Amino acid sequence: MDIKKYLQEKKEIVDSALEKYFPNRLNSGGEGIFPTSLHKAIRYSLFAGGKRIRPILSMAAFEAVGGKGGGILPFACALEMIHTYSLIHDDLPALDNDDYRRGRPTCHKAFGEAIGILAGDALLTEAFKLMTNRVIQEFCLRDGGLALDVINEVAQAAGMLGMVGGQVLDIESEGKKVDLPTLQYIHTHKTGALILVSVRVGAKLGGAKEETLKGFTHYGERIGLAFQIADDILNVEGKAELLGKKTGSDLFRGKAAYPSLLGLEESKRRAKELVELAVDSIRSFGPEAEPLEKIAWFILSREN
Ligand code: IPE
Ligand code: IPE
Ligand code: MG
Ligand code: MG
Repeated sequence: MDIKKYLQEKKEIVDSALEKYFPNRLNSGGEGIFPTSLHKAIRYSLFAGGKRIRPILSMAAFEAVGGKGGGILPFACALEMIHTYSLIHDDLPALDNDDYRRGRPTCHKAFGEAIGILAGDALLTEAFKLMTNRVIQEFCLRDGGLALDVINEVAQAAGMLGMVGGQVLDIESEGKKVDLPTLQYIHTHKTGALILVSVRVGAKLGGAKEETLKGFTHYGERIGLAFQIADDILNVEGKAELLGKKTGSDLFRGKAAYPSLLGLEESKRRAKELVELAVDSIRSFGPEAEPLEKIAWFILSREN
């Protein structure tokens, strides 16, 4: 299979679903346009050309266990909305203070800090509205218990014990020398948690039971950490034009990052090892899991 083509096709599905949930009402003049600044800021960040890796992972896991139909889409889109909120807030002056994201000025640069904060708040909240929408979300009616369980897991991954907790430690570790377990905690929480839950949501909604879920969980944990190590490496030697964000900022801000703690070569070796282990953990699932295998390798070789 051609992974570039696969990612492109899935990205288009995610983009058009997001477009449906967040239509450009400024063009149609319909309801929901108010407040215009919020609507504009949300669309500005959401449709800035993200890779859509988290929703794609959820769809790939869903299909790998035999899930059929579009029932995964509201969850896939919700995961991307939570991710986009996290990027908007991550870039704020109080956090990483970044000016570029997804190839354009950051949300707060374009709309001001207050609207940036509120656009993030809205995206996070709308994500949960979407996952609990009885009309759009077929699992609500088909298996409400399963839907609730999955939504609870997403909340856990995004919240205090997940992404937000990781972000707190990331900020508190700036300018300090952290040890490897602390660095690993930061990475598995600020980035790994949402990636892991994306895989698990897909597998669970696709019908995976305990044993199967274990394999997917190991896969998700490993690619989650590998993803952030790769992000750290790209911050050192990636190309800003391709990344759509600034490089060199981790060193400048004294961020806890793999290359500064272990060096570039060792960071690359660990990322590769994690991807190999991730691929091993889904090997028994056969050809249906091939996209997941290819996505794991893509995480390592990506240039943005
Ligand atoms: C960037 O995530 C931030 C991290 C969590 C490392 P992505 O690399 O998935 O960013 P987009 O969504 O493609 O812009
Ligand atoms: C992003 O981590 C993690 C979240 C947004 C939750 P980074 O701060 O390392 O990612 P980039 O490099 O800004 O995308
Ligand atoms: Mg950050
Ligand atoms: Mg950042």
